Amino acid sequence: MREKTREYLNSLLPQDSEYKRVSPLLEYKQDAKEHLYPVIHDDTLQLIRVMIKTSGAKKMLEVGTAVGASAMLFSSFMGEDSKIITIERDPDSHAKAVENISSYGYSDRITPLLGEAEPIVSEMTETMAGTFDIVFLDGAKGHYIYLLDDCVKLLRPGGLLIADNVLFRGMVSGADKLIRRKITIVKRLRKFLIAINNREDIISSVLPIGDGVSVSVKVK
Ligand SMILES: C[S@@+](CC[C@H](N)C(=O)[O-])C[C@H]1O[C@@H](n2cnc3c(N)ncnc32)[C@H](O)[C@@H]1O
Repeated sequence: MREKTREYLNSLLPQDSEYKRVSPLLEYKQDAKEHLYPVIHDDTLQLIRVMIKTSGAKKMLEVGTAVGASAMLFSSFMGEDSKIITIERDPDSHAKAVENISSYGYSDRITPLLGEAEPIVSEMTETMAGTFDIVFLDGAKGHYIYLLDDCVKLLRPGGLLIADNVLFRGMVSGADKLIRRKITIVKRLRKFLIAINNREDIISSVLPIGDGVSVSVKVK
């Protein structure tokens, strides 16, 4: 999306009462960004907020906690009776997330797990298949393709698989110059996008919001 268009759309984002309620988290998100922790784009956050409200989601799995900003925001949108499991492989980020989740009062509804997503998600399919309303992929972009089967298994019918950064700075579509050392990630993201568009158990749409967001609904 062109920068001017993005700026305009971001300027439309509301500061309504629910946003005010989570404003300490939004300030925290800004602070995290300034401290160079990766955090979700505002327009992507708003899109997921709409999906949470549309679907009435109460149970979410997130891959890629970082320091917990998105998990806490999603949790505040889903309400007190919701549950999020979020996975982070970097011990320092995980420790910071545990601290943040506790200090902002979300410990009873967000469970942060430390470790590589693939084995954890695979193990979860044994006991939690068909139970999640939303699975949000925001870890290493080159791993999405390897997580796809298990994430679809974890979703309930009608559940949503949402993946962030799927257009990867314009490199996936070829809109922007491909940086050599990113070739593997870009190739794997292209495979992921082809896969989600051609599976029979999900219906997908790829949106040029933020850094590119794919949304897939489980239909079987
Ligand atoms: C873009 S950040 C997540 C940002 C966070 N969702 C937010 O918006 O506040 C990606 C995080 O995923 C973690 N990560 C990357 N690959 C992973 C994997 N295979 N398993 C678990 N965590 C992973 C990284 O260490 C990093 O902290």
